[in-house]
Amino acid sequence: TGYITLDDGYANTGSCTSAITFIDGEKGILRYRGYPIEELAEKSTFIETAWLLIYGELPTRAQLQRFSDLLTENQDLHEDLKHHFEGFPATAHPMAILSSMINASSCFYPGLMGPANRERFDVHAARLISQVRTIAAFAYRKSRGLPIIYPRKKYKYTANFLHMLFSDVYEDYPLRPEVVRALDLIFLLHADHEQNCSTSTVRMVASSQANLFASAAAGVCALWGPLHGGANQAVIEMLEEIHASGGDGRELIEAVKSKKGGRRLMGFGHRVYKNYDPRARIIKKACDDLLQALQLHDPLLDIARRLEEAALNDPYFIERKLYPNVDFYSGIIMRAIGLPKEMFPVIFAIGRMPGWIANFREILFAPKAKIYRPRQIYTGSTVRHYVPIEQRG
Ligand code: CMC
Repeated sequence: TGYITLDDGYANTGSCTSAITFIDGEKGILRYRGYPIEELAEKSTFIETAWLLIYGELPTRAQLQRFSDLLTENQDLHEDLKHHFEGFPATAHPMAILSSMINASSCFYPGLMGPANRERFDVHAARLISQVRTIAAFAYRKSRGLPIIYPRKKYKYTANFLHMLFSDVYEDYPLRPEVVRALDLIFLLHADHEQNCSTSTVRMVASSQANLFASAAAGVCALWGPLHGGANQAVIEMLEEIHASGGDGRELIEAVKSKKGGRRLMGFGHRVYKNYDPRARIIKKACDDLLQALQLHDPLLDIARRLEEAALNDPYFIERKLYPNVDFYSGIIMRAIGLPKEMFPVIFAIGRMPGWIANFREILFAPKAKIYRPRQIYTGSTVRHYVPIEQRG
């Protein structure tokens, strides 16, 4: 009973209260637990920021050490899980592997996260953050037909990931501090973004009291699509297409504006930001810095810059307040690091894990958490009566 309001795409619906992330889309402001993203990007690390997001405060030295120890202790997948990787074809998208393996991994920890097990939350949260990286690296190696490289205790979080991906391919190259720092920054900038599609999904699943791993696996599925976490891959594919055609992107912009074929300028636009995405600004600078440090020239970066300039001066984009988002330049950094484009959404997922966990935790520790259950506006038939099959035309 009562009046149901339709809010298509939930543009104006607050689905929860949350103390984790603040966004002012008109001003282009993003803060994690009150700290401006620019300060964290400059001064913090992904792991410190992960702790901040989950627990609400910057960690003390002892808290950070304990977290780091938990990440290291829980970095290995159960050996029996390795068989599961063998079941996927080499062409499997790593996001499919990631979501499946997060769920499969949960089977090895019975009595996992649930409201009955709040005291084990810290261990499970650290295990998920640590293992998602191991799963992602194994998925990459599998897709290339390469042997698995196990994590090593001596490396910190992001360096350990690069080690598992590349240590036998590029010798010492991936461990260059600039490379490690650039990837760590990408993780940090993706760490949370309030009630986006995947985080809302995680909360939706968590609200039924499903466990942390099940909720996070659902988040990976929601993130996969090209309008969300798959946009970074779609941006690179778009830039590659322009490069291969020898054009400068003008044709694409015209095609997008004509709305024929439903094409969009990928990496542009955002439901909340009606101003420059603050993460895009930081990533653009990091991209320039990394390419310079590695003395790389990527023609896709030139195309991206020209596209951005053309779009920012075009009435179509100006009127609709469409600016580059976090995905516009991140792919160029990931290419420079040597990651294939199918791995880009996976990198987003690893980065977003602390945000999903922090949101899960808000539900887990809420004094009174209601199951999420939106309503609908029914548009189907009014009542009608069953017709036996022999009487149907
Ligand atoms: N290129 C061309 N036109 C666009 C674009 C774009 N990238 N984004 C929005 N528009 C147009 C859209 O066609 C519509 O025009 P009109 O008013 O004439 O119908 C208007 O702008 C409003 O668009 P909308 O679809 O109502 O906006 P939304 O808030 O539902 O969608 C979005 C947000 C991010 C899905 C969308 O901007 C988009 O598809 N962008 C490209 C994909 C992308 O880069 N996604 C990554 C988002 S940031 C990272 C993340 O959180 O995942």
